[in-house]
Amino acid sequence: MTIQLSAPIVNPLREGLRLERTPKPAILTIFGASGDLTERKLIPALYDLARERRLPPEFTVVGFARRPYSDEEFRERLKEGVARYSRNKLGNVWENFARGIYYFQGDLEDPASYQQLGEFLGKLDRERGTQGNRAFYLATAPSYFKPIIENLGLAGLAGTVRNTRVVIEKPFGHDLASAQSLNQMVQSVFQEKQVYRIDHYLGKETVQNILVFRFANAIFEPLWNHRYIDHVQITVAETVGVENRGPYYDEAGGALRDMIQNHLMQMLALTAMEPPAAFEADTVRDEKVKVLRATTVARDSNGFKAVRGQYLDGWIAGEPVSAYRSEPRVRPGAKTGTYITARFDINNWRWKGVPFYLRTGKRMPKRVSEIALQFKDVPHQMFPSMVASQVSPNILVMRIQPDEGISLRIEAKRPAPDIALRSVNMDFRYGETFEVASPEAYERLLLDCLLGDQTLFTRADEVEAAWRIVMPLIHQWDNEETNDLTFYEAGSWGPTEASKLMDTGRRWRRL
Ligand code: BG6
Repeated sequence: MTIQLSAPIVNPLREGLRLERTPKPAILTIFGASGDLTERKLIPALYDLARERRLPPEFTVVGFARRPYSDEEFRERLKEGVARYSRNKLGNVWENFARGIYYFQGDLEDPASYQQLGEFLGKLDRERGTQGNRAFYLATAPSYFKPIIENLGLAGLAGTVRNTRVVIEKPFGHDLASAQSLNQMVQSVFQEKQVYRIDHYLGKETVQNILVFRFANAIFEPLWNHRYIDHVQITVAETVGVENRGPYYDEAGGALRDMIQNHLMQMLALTAMEPPAAFEADTVRDEKVKVLRATTVARDSNGFKAVRGQYLDGWIAGEPVSAYRSEPRVRPGAKTGTYITARFDINNWRWKGVPFYLRTGKRMPKRVSEIALQFKDVPHQMFPSMVASQVSPNILVMRIQPDEGISLRIEAKRPAPDIALRSVNMDFRYGETFEVASPEAYERLLLDCLLGDQTLFTRADEVEAAWRIVMPLIHQWDNEETNDLTFYEAGSWGPTEASKLMDTGRRWRRL
């Protein structure tokens, strides 16, 4: 069964209607402008926003980095990135958009660079009419976050809640203590209402749809608890390896810090939180913090219910791929986990006794992210045992990517003169239903930041609550003596130990 729209959608661009959400004129300064993120994600997302007329004509970008580039060279470099990574084709809009892009050569650790940056931004304000509205984007290695924030403060660039914002990329800290210290540092310069901590998963349409699905439909909420749900599986599987990011990934400590603490925890929080009273930044984030505070890693007499693995040589889509330890710039013998699975328990009234199994890995056979809620068995089997044994539990799956959508597995009678059952899916597919490509996560997040909407950004207490949950695992795995790394072949679904993590009667979904 597929889902049909009950009313036609109006495409505001096609209909020539005015778009509601256009931010005020502003300058976005990107620190780390010669890096990958700027080229692959930030500028293509801004270009896509410009194409859809969501940015004001005065909108200006300043790229701050150490290498010497002229404005023209910088624009050319970004143009290539847009041609490769943007959702839209490179078109006429580029020339106009590129005229608002400038390069500023500076040293992230030198206070004088920030004084000069301040003067430069003042000049651009006058020339381009950006009215002193500023956003600073920290797209650098995390070790630069502190010096950048400090120097912005020293140069008098922290501004006010009304006119200045700072966007901080992940990872926000590498454990609870460092996240707390970074928060203190950031808050000594900026007010929390100026701070936008990025978790790009929150910018994904399907992740936001978890809220709509749960709180704009009356029929699911009564079932959304330990009375009806047996367990929840959250999977983020990638086919890619670490690519060129070996040193970062190694230093960051692998999948636990790179994926579980942020992206998967956010998915867990949105799935498990209580209904917020309003769709407002603090109301939504209060509920996320509450549920994260109630979440712990499960343990039994053998220790934590968690398994960590690292990929060996293997095959993906018919191509040989090499082991993590043979990836460029990875330390020989690195004990970094590229796969993690763990069971988390949410110790509150709604979720008592419902395990949340999380897993994520690189070099898996398939790229797929989803949240699956498996319902309990029917309380009484009225069918004869031959038939009853064919009954499978209902599963509600929210597919985050690819093939975005939602499906509900139900049991149905197979056409036959006797009673025979078969599982069938009620399926909603984004692509088929809406016939438009979803915007990229960074488009939504950049736009929200420019509009001053913090709902999809992680608040200080939230990021700390998420670190608190994974700290026991960090302690265990950072310690040589308790470092129980396992291995899996690239192109497999992870180490065999992972299946043992599932409690009796449950198993990982085949994806
Ligand atoms: C990033 C991680 O935050 O998310 C990467 O650092 C990971 O290691 C990426 O590959 C996955 O994002 P997406 O949007 O491709 O699912």
